[in-house]
Parts: sequence; structure tokens; C-alpha cells
Amino acid sequence: MKISKLFAASLIAAITLAMSPGTIWADGGAAAAGKKVFARCKSCHTAEKGAPHRIGPNLFGVVGRTCGSTDFPRYSPGMQNCAEKGIVWDATHLEKYIVDASKFLEERTGKKGRGMTPQKLNAQQLADVIAYLESLK
Ligand code: HEC
Repeated sequence: MKISKLFAASLIAAITLAMSPGTIWADGGAAAAGKKVFARCKSCHTAEKGAPHRIGPNLFGVVGRTCGSTDFPRYSPGMQNCAEKGIVWDATHLEKYIVDASKFLEERTGKKGRGMTPQKLNAQQLADVIAYLESLK
């Protein structure tokens, strides 16, 4: 009796934990918010697998990929240099790049980006849009 009560209690605890939004939907929530922020990027970027490049490259799978490494034909010299250096996009790089692409490329590669205008996002929007980019795989 005692054991099954304990079992029931831990089962309830496990279910409660599994159902709490903080554990399950934390990332999904940020990514969903980030999808809305991404509306600002859509004039230049697609995000679906195999979608065509626009003014900027398709961003499907961008997190974990080397910068400037799609078949987008108009990468700036700064971005080409970024690819040669083998810099891989992660949240830390993206945080800097998205808000000031040219500065990021100049600091990391010695060549200006020119390709992408700085995006005016607050810290929350920036974190959310990066969570969205991370979800594209
Ligand atoms: C006015 C057009 C424009 C807008 C708006 C824009 N981008 Fe870009 N983006 C570009 C261009 C052009 C490049 C290529 C830059 C280069 O070659 O230096 C680029 C490159 C990138 C890259 C690097 C891609 C790669 O293949 O390495 C990322 C990441 C990125 N943009 C994210 C974003 C996000 C996130 C937003 C919205 C917050 C955004 N961009 C808005 C034009 C734009």
C-alpha cells in the first residue's frame, strides 16, 4: 500500500512536471514569438527548406552552418571571407551579426559586410528571432 501510494505520488509529480509550460514549451514559445519578428526579415529572406534566395540567402538551417556557405550568388566580400574563416553561426555570432552585420564582419574577418543593413531589434526580439532560426531544421 505504502509503495503504490509513493508510486502514485511520483507519477503525479512526473506528469505535472511534464505538463508545465516552462519545461515543455519554453523554446517553442520563443520560436513562435520569433516567427513574428521574422516578418521583418521576410522581404529579403525565405526560411523554408529549398525556398529560393531573395535579396539575401535562404535561412533554413542557418544555425550550425558556416557563414556565407549557401549557393547564394551575391555574398559580400566580408561574408565570403567569413566563409573562408569557417565561422559557424551560433546564437552568440547571430546576436552581433543581425544588429550590425558590417561591424561583425569587419571585426571577425577584417572586411566590411555591406550586404545587410543593421536590423533594429530589442534584446527580446533578437533572442526570439534567433530561437526561431534555431528551430529551422
Ligand atoms: C534589406 C534586406 C535584408 C533584411 C531586411 C534582412 N537581411 Fe539578412 N541578409 C541580407 C543580405 C543581402 C545578406 C547577405 C549579406 C552579405 O553577403 O554580406 C544577409 C545575410 C543574413 C544572414 C547570414 C546568412 C548566411 O548564409 O550566412 C543571416 C543569419 C541573416 N541575414 C539574418 C537576418 C535576420 C534574422 C533578419 C531580420 C531580423 C534579416 N537578416 C533581415 C539582407 C537582409
